[in-house]
Amino acid sequence: MSTLIAPSILSADFANLGAALIALQEACCDWIHVDVMDGHFVPNLTIGPPVIQDLKKRSSLPLDVHLMITNPELYINDYVKAGASHITVHAEACIHLHAVIQQIKKHNIKAGVAINPATNPNVLRYVLNDLDLILVMSVNPGFGGQDFIHSSLEKIKHLRTMLKESNNEQVLISVDGGINNHTAALAVKAGANVLVSGSYLFKAVDLSHAIKTLKNSEQTSLN
Ligand code: DX5
Ligand code: ZN
Repeated sequence: MSTLIAPSILSADFANLGAALIALQEACCDWIHVDVMDGHFVPNLTIGPPVIQDLKKRSSLPLDVHLMITNPELYINDYVKAGASHITVHAEACIHLHAVIQQIKKHNIKAGVAINPATNPNVLRYVLNDLDLILVMSVNPGFGGQDFIHSSLEKIKHLRTMLKESNNEQVLISVDGGINNHTAALAVKAGANVLVSGSYLFKAVDLSHAIKTLKNSEQTSLN
């Protein structure tokens, strides 16, 4: 499958999200990545269900909601109602990870689990069958514009092998943090098939060219 591009609107002008959505849609991205932060799980605060509900009205693209919040099980229903197509929770934030995944799936939307840079990917071993998406954090969550942590590449490779060996290759591996024209190729080569990118895309002079560049990482990674 071709690499999916999920721009993170964390780097957009929050006073002008509607315009950002239109620009991203015209530039042919695949999903919109929405970073939800609670000032508790991560030291930053962003947006919640009412804003996502309004984003949903303006865009037909899937909304890939990344919950960087504690006790996500208390809020899943609100994000489903707001229009999320994918809900990703952090393994570190869930005492009962298996149960939270089931809670997301019962709404017939895609379920994802994110893991922080220091988290062992084996924490996902016994839930692989239940997942649609694994999100590998390649920065510590909380802020855009940080440098890519290179040990995430080994983690992506490890997960790719785990998925292959367990016959779960339909599970997508998404990588989030510090993705630009250089790191994208490394991540795709390691086995990622979704690239989340914020500051690289929003700083680009030509958004559509930058999205194409990330999409073509597949070719770059073969060189
Ligand atoms: C970080 C967020 C990322 C972030 C990516 O906590 O999960 O989605 O916005 O931004 P860049 O691409 O700037 O690292
Ligand atoms: Zn994110």
